[in-house]
Amino acid sequence: MYDDNPTLRGMGDKVVNEALQGQVYGAPEVLDRPAARQFYIESYGCQMNFSDSEIVASILGEAGYGPTRDLEAADLILINTCSIREKAEDTVRKRLRVFDKVKRRRPGTLVGVLGCMAERLKAKFLEEEKLVDLVVGPDAYRDLPNLVAGAEEGDKGVNVFLSREETYADINPLRLQSNGVTAFISIMRGCDNMCSFCVVPYTRGRERSRSAYSIVAEATDLFDRGFREVTLLGQNVDSYKWVNPESAGVLTFAELLRLTAAVHPDLRIRFSTSHPKDITDEVLYAMRDHRNICKYIHLPVQSGNSRILELMNRTYDREWYLRKIDRIYEILPDCAISSDVITGFCTETDEEHRETLSMIDYARYSMSYMFYYSERPGTPAARKLTDDVPLAVKKRRLQEIIDLQTGISHELNQCDIGKTFRVLIEGESKRSAMDWKGRNSQNKMVIFAKTGHHQPGNYVNVRITEATSATLLGELLEA
Ligand code: SAH
Ligand code: SF4
Ligand code: F3S
Repeated sequence: MYDDNPTLRGMGDKVVNEALQGQVYGAPEVLDRPAARQFYIESYGCQMNFSDSEIVASILGEAGYGPTRDLEAADLILINTCSIREKAEDTVRKRLRVFDKVKRRRPGTLVGVLGCMAERLKAKFLEEEKLVDLVVGPDAYRDLPNLVAGAEEGDKGVNVFLSREETYADINPLRLQSNGVTAFISIMRGCDNMCSFCVVPYTRGRERSRSAYSIVAEATDLFDRGFREVTLLGQNVDSYKWVNPESAGVLTFAELLRLTAAVHPDLRIRFSTSHPKDITDEVLYAMRDHRNICKYIHLPVQSGNSRILELMNRTYDREWYLRKIDRIYEILPDCAISSDVITGFCTETDEEHRETLSMIDYARYSMSYMFYYSERPGTPAARKLTDDVPLAVKKRRLQEIIDLQTGISHELNQCDIGKTFRVLIEGESKRSAMDWKGRNSQNKMVIFAKTGHHQPGNYVNVRITEATSATLLGELLEA
């Protein structure tokens, strides 16, 4: 299997990046200034966290800190954490053990915990992990230079204040680990959706939307600097709602999509995540009308059974979701849909689990992120429901879902053989310097031999000749 597999990217408990694997892109004034001190940052969890790390890097850059990829050389070690499942938190604690050792060897090195786990555990972190100097929640990053200065004087710093307004709209993120072609733009923060299993509303606070002007300006700036794809990020992008202070008019997500698509026809637009209850026909029409809005929707179902969906407080049932899938394929016949699935949620029976399997079959997901349920302290499910499905059963159901999804992905990818796709080249394939990798509109990774004089950031036509469940292989057609 190829390392370029997009399904291995960006979710929950997987370790996703080692800091700064690629180049760093940022405001020249930040990059040109010689950094007196250096920070190292590692990010875990969802794309929002990766995007936040770029905001943190920009704030620290302004304060005179430069990024390093060398843990041993860092004056400040930061870990941007995730709380979504227990395993995600375990991973963070393991990394803290490693940082502890660095700190012992190099006294004076500061260690800071950022993100969702910082928000969930707050000052408790300092009691549990003695060597942590800073605990900073997702809405308090502007305070980092202050807190770091205090910590340099020996004062441990905690700021986990959650804001109703903060969107970091004015901060130009320092693009860490960037391929120079694709970038994230955070369009909103927080979540008001209270899904009973989920810790995010507690770690990220209330939902708020960022100014459409600043989003379009960021997309334009990225395009001017050579980027060719932006992903608009939020926990629930379809509930984006921005009130223009000048006109008092309300701008919806569908309108924001049209505005960003108009930046340039060669700038691809993606977005994540959509909540099935909020995605409207207007969003689907915007996707249909603009070729540069990618035909791909991540539409997490969580469960295919209506009783479980109700316990999860997802606010839609099986029938409603099925109709949504029909509607998407009706308006966008070539759209790929992907999903998130949780197995073994409280009281789930085998029969109810089979409804999730049949949902996956019906929806023909191109891929899914699949998890077994992990109870999170303080969530409605932890307070009101019993986590009573034995671990072995959760895992068996998860395996059944993974097997089914892998088969469907394989089948769908086989159907792509012979088709020609417009692919945006993202860089060299990890497996071979002779090959390019890029993605088609449907978000499928395509690998093909380098011929001609193409560069990352170019669009090329590729005819698919082979396919696995995760990757399409093809040959470049000279345009
Ligand atoms: N906002 C997104 C999801 C963010 S969390 C949405 O609403 O779809 C990413 C995924 O992690 C969720 O979709 C869910 O499938 C999974 N997840 C969240 N909490 C979980 C838990 N307690 N146990 C297992 N998986 C969980
Ligand atoms: Fe969590 Fe639900 Fe919000 Fe997604 S929509 S972040 S699953 S509460
Ligand atoms: Fe994890 Fe927080 Fe994202 S809990 S999935 S990093 S919003």
